[in-house]
Amino acid sequence: MSGGAGFIGSEFVRQTIASHPEDSVIVLDKLTYAGNVHNLDPVAEVPSFRFVHGDICDMELVDTLISDVDVVVNFAAESHVDRSLEAPGQFIQTDVFGTFVLLEAARRAGHDRFLQVSTDEVYGDIELGTSSEGDPLRPRSPYSASKAGAELMVWAYRASYGMPVITTRGSNTYGPYQYPEKIIPLFITNAIDDQPLPIYGDGSAVRDYLHVADHARGIDTALRTGTPGEDYNVGFGGATNGREIADLVLAALDKPDSLKQHVRDRLGHDRRYAVDTAKLRSLGWRPEVPLERGLRETVAWYRANEAWWRPLKSGEFWDFYRRNYKPLDAGAARPS
Ligand code: NAD
Ligand code: TYD
Repeated sequence: MSGGAGFIGSEFVRQTIASHPEDSVIVLDKLTYAGNVHNLDPVAEVPSFRFVHGDICDMELVDTLISDVDVVVNFAAESHVDRSLEAPGQFIQTDVFGTFVLLEAARRAGHDRFLQVSTDEVYGDIELGTSSEGDPLRPRSPYSASKAGAELMVWAYRASYGMPVITTRGSNTYGPYQYPEKIIPLFITNAIDDQPLPIYGDGSAVRDYLHVADHARGIDTALRTGTPGEDYNVGFGGATNGREIADLVLAALDKPDSLKQHVRDRLGHDRRYAVDTAKLRSLGWRPEVPLERGLRETVAWYRANEAWWRPLKSGEFWDFYRRNYKPLDAGAARPS
């Protein structure tokens, strides 16, 4: 699998090794700013586990590794919307071209299954109701457009070469080991340090927050019991806006409301995502961690693991932070 040193990928690896000790796992990961080989420390000594430091865009390396595996699971991606707004090129390179390299190598080698980890953001902003797997893809950010581009390539390999591909479209995920730039780990680590929690615009954009353990189990269910050629949504079914996330984090840490700070809105900010998960549920999967509990446990994890995240909030992290976050009156976002 690729991208296994990242947030969701490392949870998937830890779960797979615990639940399926008969499987061997090879992780290919470039260790970008978001990847951290220490996320895999709990399995580092397991004989059936191997870590390879490298890029999914490296055709020669991918060809060599894929000849040894039966199943490919692709987590590797540039994954942060705000970074995609600033510099989309690397998103196209890894998320689209990298997926093509994996597909092409898998096609040549022959294999049992290829699972592409995608996102509910490919459906784009939806005002009402929920997105189902057959709905059109209407991505609106460079990140979601890159993920949709990858999906279209996966579809092309399915239709053209009959490849046994499965795609999962997960909703906003949170939990331990998440790089502190997405809203939940950023707000938790800022609040621990009594720093402001930057809420985009009026803070009313809604997401469906899913605990990483539930997301990884959902991917495993789709991989092992899903039908080749099908796509599966993965989500909890909640609807929480940015102000509410700030309130939950502040309450869990017993910090004052005054830490909430409204900042300039994200360009083209998608207002709402919501997915229908009946298809994955029909395979027996259910999300188990409600947001209030998951968030409390995640806050406890970040408090207990400062040695994991403090080194990440330095240098380039703050350069990006300063470029990305602007006061509310620094000019309106361009029309979306
Ligand atoms: P992440 O940013 O934490 O991790 C990405 C991993 O991919 C890192 O370990 C990084 O080093 C690796 N990587 C990046 N470019 C690479 C390359 N060219 N070659 C090899 N490895 C590379 O991301 P995440 O949050 O764990 O997301 C994993 C996947 O799930 C992504 O495909 C993402 O689009 C998708 N997803 C994420 C969320 C979410 O809320 N985080 C929700 C739905 C779907
Ligand atoms: P994010 O965690 O970046 O995930 P995504 O954009 O992939 O959904 O953002 C989740 C929501 O939180 C989104 O509506 C934007 C908002 N947000 C903030 O208000 N402040 C922040 O600092 C961040 C990172 C996000």
